[in-house]
Amino acid sequence: MASDLAHVLKLPLVPVADRCSRFLLLVTRARLELRQHGPGAAGPVYVDFAAGRSAHRRRFGGGVGQPLARAMGLKQGWRPRVVDATAGMGRDSFVLAALGCEVTLLERSPVVWALLRDGVIRAQMAEDPELVDIARRMTTHHADAIDYLERLSEGEQPEVIYLDPMYPKRRKSALVKKEMRLFRELVGDDPDTGRLLAVAQRCAAYRVVVKRPSKAGYLGELQPTMAINSANTRYDVYVRKGISRK
Ligand SMILES: C[S@@+](CC[C@H](N)C(=O)[O-])C[C@H]1O[C@@H](n2cnc3c(N)ncnc32)[C@H](O)[C@@H]1O
Repeated sequence: MASDLAHVLKLPLVPVADRCSRFLLLVTRARLELRQHGPGAAGPVYVDFAAGRSAHRRRFGGGVGQPLARAMGLKQGWRPRVVDATAGMGRDSFVLAALGCEVTLLERSPVVWALLRDGVIRAQMAEDPELVDIARRMTTHHADAIDYLERLSEGEQPEVIYLDPMYPKRRKSALVKKEMRLFRELVGDDPDTGRLLAVAQRCAAYRVVVKRPSKAGYLGELQPTMAINSANTRYDVYVRKGISRK
C-alpha cells in the first residue's frame, strides 16, 4: 500500500524512522497520516469525517439555515450539484454532502488529495449507514480546478461552484493554528485565485460562492452579488442565474 501510494504520488518511499524529510506521509493500519518533523511541528494531520469537528458540525451545524448552506442557495427540495474547487481536507464539502448535495471535490496538492481520498474512502466503508450515505455523495479528483473546469462540456456544468482558497497571510502568525501553518507550508498561497474565480463564473450554472475571512477584500477585487456573514467568515456569492423557480 505504501509503495503503491509512493508510486502514484511520485514520492520517495522511506523507512518510518526517517527524520530527514520535513514531512512524512505515513500509512498506518487505521488511516493515512501526514506527520511533520522539526521545530514547531503540528501533530499528525488526517481526514476523519466520523469524529471531531465534522461529526460535531453534522449534528449541531444548523442545517440549511447555516451561513454556508444559505450562501450555496440550498432550499426545500433543491440540492445543487456542487464542485468544491479547493477541497483541502473536505470539511466544507462534508457539510454540503451531509445536507444532501452531490459534491465533486477537486484538490491539486497530491499529498492533501491523498489524505482527503483516504478520509472519504474510510467514511464510505464506515459502520454508520448515515455516514456511508453522506460519503457516497462525495467524489474526489486529484486535479487543478482551472484545468478541470475548462475541460467540462456544456452538459457537465456544475450548478454551484464553491471556492475556499488559502486565506491571505496574517501578520500575527502566532494566531494561526499549527494545522493551518502546516497547510500553508505544504501547499503555498494559491496565487491564481483571481483566474480560478473567472473560470468558475463561466462554468457554474447558478452561482459561485467564495469563502473569505470577514475583513478580507473581494477575490480578484470582484464585487459579489451579495454576501452572507458569520462570526469570522464571509461568503461572497456571485449569482449567474436565479434559483427562485426551484
Ligand atoms: C483553505 S484550503 C480549503 C479547505 C476546505 N474548504 C476544507 O473545508 O477543508 C485550500 C485548498 O485548495 C487547494 N487549491 C487551491 N487552488 C486550487 C486549484 N486551482 N485547484 C485545486 N485545488 C486548489 C489548495 O491546495 C488547498 O488544499
